[in-house]
Amino acid sequence: MNMPQDPFHHLHDEAYLSAFDQPRLQADTLLALGGRPQQSLDGDWHFTLDLFDEGLRQKWYTLAQAPAQAWTHPRDYDPYTGGTVAVPANWSMLRPETLHFEGGGWYTRIIDHVPDPDCPITVLRVGAANYQSRVFLNGHFMGTHLGGSTPFCVDLSEALLPGPNRLQIQVDNRRELDRVPMRHVDWFNHGGIYREVCLLRLPSLHIRSAKVDWTPERGLCVRIRLNQTLDTVAHCQVPALGLRLEIPIHAGQGEAFAHCNPRMWCPDDPHLYDVHFECGQDRLEDRVGFRHISVSGTQLLLNGEPIFLRGICVHEDDVRLGKVSTEADVRRRFADARAMGCNFLRLSHYPHHEHVARLADEVGILLWEEIPVYWAIDFANPRTLADALNQLHELIERDHNRASVIFWGVGNENADSDARLSFMRTLAQSARQQDPSRLISAACLINREHFRIEDRLAEHLDVIGINEYFGWYEPGFEGLQRLLDQSNPDRPVLITETGADAKAGHHGRDDELFTEECQARILSEQVRISASKPYVCGIAPWLLYDFRSERRHTVFNGGFNRKGVIAEDKQTRKLGFFALQKRYTILRAR
Ligand code: GCU
Repeated sequence: MNMPQDPFHHLHDEAYLSAFDQPRLQADTLLALGGRPQQSLDGDWHFTLDLFDEGLRQKWYTLAQAPAQAWTHPRDYDPYTGGTVAVPANWSMLRPETLHFEGGGWYTRIIDHVPDPDCPITVLRVGAANYQSRVFLNGHFMGTHLGGSTPFCVDLSEALLPGPNRLQIQVDNRRELDRVPMRHVDWFNHGGIYREVCLLRLPSLHIRSAKVDWTPERGLCVRIRLNQTLDTVAHCQVPALGLRLEIPIHAGQGEAFAHCNPRMWCPDDPHLYDVHFECGQDRLEDRVGFRHISVSGTQLLLNGEPIFLRGICVHEDDVRLGKVSTEADVRRRFADARAMGCNFLRLSHYPHHEHVARLADEVGILLWEEIPVYWAIDFANPRTLADALNQLHELIERDHNRASVIFWGVGNENADSDARLSFMRTLAQSARQQDPSRLISAACLINREHFRIEDRLAEHLDVIGINEYFGWYEPGFEGLQRLLDQSNPDRPVLITETGADAKAGHHGRDDELFTEECQARILSEQVRISASKPYVCGIAPWLLYDFRSERRHTVFNGGFNRKGVIAEDKQTRKLGFFALQKRYTILRAR
């Protein structure tokens, strides 16, 4: 005889999370937006913070809509009443008392469904939510997504009813040992759904992924993946090149090649082509630049020509909006970088909003994109590796067609160990296998034992990134000169970080810590010395704007990392900005 469940079971069940661990929403179900019609779900959602995960313990997602008088049992939360928040937004930015909140948050929205026989598939697409998201529809658990900076999709079709449907997303931004990143980071741990949310209505047979790139050897290469493993034909057109490719599809996948000589995309001429993909009733559009990035010995080549990367690093952080990124903010970011003489940005330390690479394609700025394998990571944990691999695949799936993106970065400042080597080698090999058209790199640390740019991981990378702070964390530049002189890399080296903190408006001697003069001298010396080495293919100082960091509490920092060459108001340019501008003008003329 079935015993009625003890109504207080949830008070004693500390294994409650295991019920929400599968299915995982991963890269293979990600859908390209590609100009498809979208029903935006941005705007107000009912919202509550849930520090103790009561919603998962007590199954708030099973609560039906009813006026309080009709409730048969007392409730701890009613997802249909009470406060709402705007999506996209970070809950840290909503009000002072939620700034440092780390825990769960519940989003509830009623969506009205009108069945369409031509488009029977309805997919929810979330641009990003930090960190773990659990999706529920009408009380059914639809799946969970790990990773705070990449998009995910959920096919709602099975559980969707005609008329009103209750869609709920529980997001948890806790810093955990098995996550990527782990617990300790030098940026602000914003929480919530902070990128756009929409519904896509699709024909039963549709294109999941449409990748296109160009190499001198094969010309144009198109790869299509469908949502069904059947045999059929797809087409790809590039009208401006007079190209119409027929792509035979076997078991849902297909590729085709065409020799052609497109106008090459580059920062000085960011030419884009309209590309159309078709299969059955489904259509996708994209605007793509064709370029070729490669290395030859210790030289970096763009379209076969040597290029030096005059760069800067940047975080996705804003004093008012947190991690919410707007096109206007990104255009300002590019304008500031351009004004400094940059042709390259390192988007650190996690995937930024997908409009960043689209806009970079348009304005002609080269990009490094990375996943947050940052500092200490549980490298020996297979769950952590699976999470990192999936974040990498989602990033590549999302931005594969972006000409501006030339690097996939698989990590930052990870101490050497066998577990780390195996973990990051797997990431590098997987990135190369998924996208042979780009360069793989990582921001490595100096080999202190030999005092050289040397890392066991290097043989799995195309370009060695190196983070060094001579002049700041290590006084003087003799060490930098000795490091560069003693190193003998067999591939290009990119200075992926260097710099110094300066409080905007704080002036003094150029050897006085935290003055603008000191930051300017350090940045100028760093570029002068590093760019003098033939194997150095570029430099990306740390960084464009000051940003929030809960690790920094001197009177100069006040909760901000102040290595920006522009203050957190994104207006006030420090002397460091002009020092880099001067150095980059010299380099550009080189
Ligand atoms: C590190 C790290 C950055 C950090 C910077 C700093 O290199 O990669 O995330 O902000 O140093 O100390 O300012």
